[in-house]
Amino acid sequence: MTHARQHHIQVVAHRGASEEAPEHTLAAYKKAIEDGADALECDVRLTADGHLVCVHDRRVNRTSNGRGAVSALELADLAALDFGSWKTKEAREAWHARVEDPDWEVRPEDREETSVLTLERLLELVSDSGRRVELAIETKHPTRWAGQVEERLLILLKRFGLDAPESAAESPVRIMSFSARSLYRVRAVSPTLPTVYLSQFASPRLRDGRLPAGVGIAGPSIRIVRNHPVYVERLKQSGHQVHVWTVNEPEDVDLCVELGIDAIITNRPRAVLDRLGR
Ligand code: G3P
Ligand code: CA
Repeated sequence: MTHARQHHIQVVAHRGASEEAPEHTLAAYKKAIEDGADALECDVRLTADGHLVCVHDRRVNRTSNGRGAVSALELADLAALDFGSWKTKEAREAWHARVEDPDWEVRPEDREETSVLTLERLLELVSDSGRRVELAIETKHPTRWAGQVEERLLILLKRFGLDAPESAAESPVRIMSFSARSLYRVRAVSPTLPTVYLSQFASPRLRDGRLPAGVGIAGPSIRIVRNHPVYVERLKQSGHQVHVWTVNEPEDVDLCVELGIDAIITNRPRAVLDRLGR
């Protein structure tokens, strides 16, 4: 099915092409770039020794063969873990068989695909991709760190020349958060970096088409959009872009097209691009 589109909808790979490859791994992001995604979404957390890594949960238990909170582990501890084999039972069993074999060694090139991904490595991947691939970076539980997540993030973006775009419209990077405070911290230092205020539930703010001061983009869940399509209209009337997550079903893609959504954040970038006829 193809659609006569009113405008270009950006397709954002949520945690990479995370339906096909383990989320937040280099493998998932490479696949998303190959699939033609316009942008990549990632969650960032600080390790105990101050590195920004791309991990969604507070703990590594679900997505690796290790245990513990990211904030209590050092980068070297995380680098020893496998973030890929949890995705399938066979792969998990194969991993355990291999690590119990004292002669077995992982080839570095295989290892990198599924080891913990630093934000720095993801920025390198994007800058080496040979085309414009945008990055939507979500700060996770930033209040716990009293500004350190944002500080490290902006220092890293500065190294890549991405912290102070001429204008929000030109920036290939945007910062997302459920925390308005986190977005204020970013804007205080880098006022031209675009920011996205994420919402999981309907709120009076969204109902009225309002966002925290200075934030240009609304990031409602697909459930809010399904239940309250009029909120999208109000947000757009107030001059805001609307980026919706996590949109995996064809009928939800169609709804986003109908409503004039600006970006679709999905675990299945290739399927969404197909649906959009691209
Ligand atoms: O893109 C926004 C979305 O990722 C927020 O939810 O839990 O997947 O980080 P979560
Ligand atoms: Ca996220």
